[in-house]
Order: sequence, then C-alpha cells, then structure tokens
Amino acid sequence: MCGIVGYVGDAARNVSALDIGLDALARMEYRGYDSAGIAVVRPGELVVEKKAGKLANLLDQIAADGGGDSSRFAGSTCIGHTRWATHGRPNDVNAHPHVSFDGKAAIVHNGIIENFAELRAEIEAAGIELTSETDSEVAAHLLALAYNAGPTAGDFEASALSVLRRLEGAFTLLFTHVDEPGKIIAGRRSTPLIIGVGDDEMFLGSDVAAFIAHTRQAVELGQDNVVVITRDSYRVMDFDGTPAEGRPFTIDWDLAAAEKGGFDSFMMKEIFEQPAAIRDTLAGHFVDGRVILDEQRLSDDDLRQVDKVFVVACGSAYHSGLLAKYAIEHWVRLPVEIEVASEFRYRDPVLDKQTLVVAVSQSGETADTLEAVRHAKTQGARVLAVCNTNGSQIPRESDAVLYTHAGPEIGVASTKAFLAQIAANYIVGLALAQARGTKYPDEIESIFDQLEEIPAKIERVLGLKGQIHELAEELGPIPTMLFLGRHVGYPVALEGALKLKELAYIHAEGFPAGELKHGPIALIEEDLPVVVVVPSPQGREILHSKIVTNIQEIRARGARTIVIAEEGDESVRPYANFLLEIPASGTLLQPLLSTVPLQFLSAEIARQCGNTDIDKPRNLAKSVTVE
Ligand code: G6P
Repeated sequence: MCGIVGYVGDAARNVSALDIGLDALARMEYRGYDSAGIAVVRPGELVVEKKAGKLANLLDQIAADGGGDSSRFAGSTCIGHTRWATHGRPNDVNAHPHVSFDGKAAIVHNGIIENFAELRAEIEAAGIELTSETDSEVAAHLLALAYNAGPTAGDFEASALSVLRRLEGAFTLLFTHVDEPGKIIAGRRSTPLIIGVGDDEMFLGSDVAAFIAHTRQAVELGQDNVVVITRDSYRVMDFDGTPAEGRPFTIDWDLAAAEKGGFDSFMMKEIFEQPAAIRDTLAGHFVDGRVILDEQRLSDDDLRQVDKVFVVACGSAYHSGLLAKYAIEHWVRLPVEIEVASEFRYRDPVLDKQTLVVAVSQSGETADTLEAVRHAKTQGARVLAVCNTNGSQIPRESDAVLYTHAGPEIGVASTKAFLAQIAANYIVGLALAQARGTKYPDEIESIFDQLEEIPAKIERVLGLKGQIHELAEELGPIPTMLFLGRHVGYPVALEGALKLKELAYIHAEGFPAGELKHGPIALIEEDLPVVVVVPSPQGREILHSKIVTNIQEIRARGARTIVIAEEGDESVRPYANFLLEIPASGTLLQPLLSTVPLQFLSAEIARQCGNTDIDKPRNLAKSVTVE
C-alpha cells in the first residue's frame, strides 16, 4: 500500500535526484497508483510536483515543466511517493509529498495515522489551514511546528522524533527540511522501509526494488526504528533517539528479475516463471528422506503438541490456505480451520498453546494477516509464516517461517506466488505428518516426488496459451462468468473467479459444484460461460462422476461450458464447449496445474475488455498495509 522512495546523493557530483527518484517510483508503482509525487530538496527550497493518476501523469507534468534537464529540478536529495488512497480521494491535492505551512518541510507517508483527527484539530487551533483530506498532512505541519519553536527548535532530528512519538497507527514516514537538504529522516511502525547503501549515495524504499539498479547492499529496519541518512552515512535509533541496529543483508535478486524479460506484462512473465517458482520452493526441503522447513524455530516436539491448525490469509493467499486444509486434514488427521485474516481476530477464535496458526502472505506485509498473527501470539498460539519476502514483518513476528522462493512478484494479481504458496503449504502438511507419524516416510517421499514432477507438467500447461487466446475471442463480450469445482477444484474455482474480477472487471463467482442446485443454477441462462474444474478420473472416482453430472445440468440449461480436465478424460468431451486438457496428477496436486489455464483466461478476457495494463488493475494494490 503506497510506495515510498528517498535518495541522498553527492551535490558536488551533480547527480540528478529527480531522475533517480522517478526511476525508483516506477519500480514502486505496483504498490499504489492512484497518484504520484516527488519533492526535490534544495538549500532553502523545495520543488514539489504531484499528480493524480498513474506515474505517467506525473512524468508528463514534469516534462511540461522543463523536465530533468531544467535547473528548476536540480538537486541531490529527493523523496517520492506512489499512492493507494485511504483517507481522501485520489486527486492532485491529496497526493504526496505534503508540505508544511511554512513551505520548508516535506513528508511522504505510507500507512494510516489513526489519531490524525485529534492532531488535525490541534494544528487548526494553531491557525494553520490544512489543504488536503489526508491523514498524512498533519505530519508535515507537526514537523514544522516542532522545528520552528519550543524545546526542539532548530533541531531537525529531535523535531522528527518528537512527531513520530506522537503518532498512532501504522506508518512509514520520510521527513525532509530545506535547512538540511542533504539529509532524510525516516521512521517506521508496522509498514516497511529498507535502506539501500550505495557508494557515496544512500537510498530508502518500501522494498529493495526501489534501489536494486544502484546497489545490492541493504539494511532492514526494526519496528519503531528511525534512520537518518546522508549521502555517506546512515544512523539507526528508536523513537527516543536511543541508538539501535539495522539488519544488513545482500539482495540476491538481480535487476532482470524485476524487469519484464521480453513479456508484455509482468503478470505474463510471472505465469511463465511458475515452473521455476515451484522448483525453487521445493528445493532443499526434502533431504536424506526428511522434510525440512526454513527457519524452524518450532521443534518436532512442538509440532506433536499441536491439536488444531488455523490458516489465516487474504486474497489469493487465502485460496492457497483452503487447499492446505484439504491436504493437512487428509495427511495429518488434524482439524484445520481457514479464515480470511481480516475476520480472524474480531471473531474471538478459540486458540491456545496447542494451536498452530499458519499465516500465508506473499508480501509478508498485509496488515490484516499481520494483525491476525499478533492476535494469535497474544493467545499463546504458535505461528508459522509462509512468505515470499525475506525479512518482512510477518515472518519476523512468527515462530517459524517457510519461504516460497517465487522471486519478486510485480503483477498485482498473484500468479506464481499463489502456486508457490500451495507448494509451501503442502510442505508444511508433510512436515506435520512426519513429526506426528501420520504418514510413513516412503509415503512422504512419494508425495514429494510427485510435487517435484509438477514443474515439468506446468510447462506443458503453459502451451495452452494460444488455445485460450482463441477461446477468449470466441467467447466475445461477457457480462458474468461462473466457476465450479469440487474438493480441491473448489478453491481453484474461487481463484479463477478472483482473477477474472481483478483483471477484467467482470462479475464472476466461484462455487462448489455440489452447491449449484442450491441457488446458483438460477443464474444459468443461454450462453452464460461456466468454467468447470474436473478432478482426475483416476483418483477419487466419486468426485469425478458427480461433476460430470453437474456439467450436464448446466449444459442442459444453455450454458457454454469451459471444461478443465485431465488429458484422456473422454467422459467430459461431449459436454464441453471448450475443453482445456492438463496432465494427470495426484488429486491434491491438481490445483498446481488447473489454476494456470484460468490465469491465462482472465488475462485474455481482460485484454478483450480493453484492460491493457493487467499488471495494475484499477483500485487494487499489491501490498495492502492497511486494515
Ligand atoms: C492483495 C493482492 C492479492 C493478494 C492479497 C494478499 O489484495 O492484490 O493478489 O493475494 O493482497 O497479499 P499477500 O501479500 O498477503 O499474499
């Protein structure tokens, strides 16, 4: 939610902070794209440009104002922001940076300042007029008030700390002041901030993609930490100014991993990276006949104590959690509850020391999931994170972590991270089965072997892209679409419907196929497209025969059926208007294959509907760091 960047370079070398800042904003745009803005900090002067809409609008405005070549923008320090609106509409005024009443301080903010109403009233009482509807603007005025008078007068650092101490909620804030143009002060609570350490230049970003083109040396900040950066130094402390330590690390992504690699969208590139994502996620987790987790801060003994599992997650990660329920209950014979993270803590779930909470999150930042983790911990439960982002907040606050090695996912709609989450959730299931002895070692090995065959099978499913392009053309404009599945096909149906909503802005619903006759069948009318995910005829035969009946029921009522079935499953052919064949796999593993055609389908329909920017669907954001 919102991307933040900061840069301090060497004024003597004439670096263009504007160019570096705008480049960083382009890499942060996936986090929010309601508006964008940048402030170049010069001695005694702030140059601020901000604009509603995508970053391209800001770039146009800057170009119209003379662009990076003009002396107007010359300067070696900048802060920038890409917004996902929470308080206040996405317009020019509400865009960040926000500037203080005296025009000397500028801030950018990610998160929500929960006590902003009270702070706003205080600022207004001091005779200052607020110009935006945001919660963020208060921080700029508070900084100027603290800097201009009182105990912190003239002290930029002490003023920024005094502001941070007054804020409630979740925030990353970058402060600048024209009196100290070579310095940025930044604080964070519960939202991300990473420092990039360059050669005579220093960066700040919501994630490492902001500065990966310039440096691989990064430092992660702890909770309630502040950093003061200049071009050649960074100093970490807490909100009281007591020195603290950041965690230095070397970024192992390369720039190419964050670029499109020849595809026309990040999402399409990420769909094609799925075989590698699964391979990398499985790698190293089955060694010498044993399942191994990453940061195993839970012993086998701890896993044996578990009497109930909760999976908490949002969006696509939630759908991966639904699949974890099928696998863990089947392999481990433990009851598993799956809950949308935003509902979890408000429902007063029954948790204790014997509960294992599995928190699944690509970003490791999702506020709803993070709060669910915190709630689980206050209740004494053990928490295991399944996460794609090294060192992010959710794994940091969890007892153990299993990383999905999907690599950076830039497309807002999750694809490769989702498949990697399924694989990781299954590794968790196998680790539990191993610790509790509910599966023999050779059974675990056999499931692992089948998982290792999945990447090659996904490669074959990727070959369906052309067929799905034609299918989408043949479908033509559609008002709505239904998705049906049974057993593990049901979460796949939900994920297929979510993808279509996200990318094509078309109403779509996923249902358990058996539920059809209890209501959704009333929606079926002539030509309505219905996707049906058919389980393997080899596995649980009963599932297969029931769904074949369901397909006939909808066909009889005029629906156009798009059937995803195993290669060689002739029984469905007579009832399929469109048949998409996927390789055979074990029942529980089929979602790793059947999801892929649905990703293509939503992308193709999105294009048909005129949404050419499938990486950034309207109103969505990749990392939702507000509840
Ligand atoms: C957002 C994204 C979804 C994602 C969900 C959970 O809504 O648009 O694609 O599935 O957040 O994100 P997480 O990072 O926790 O997996």
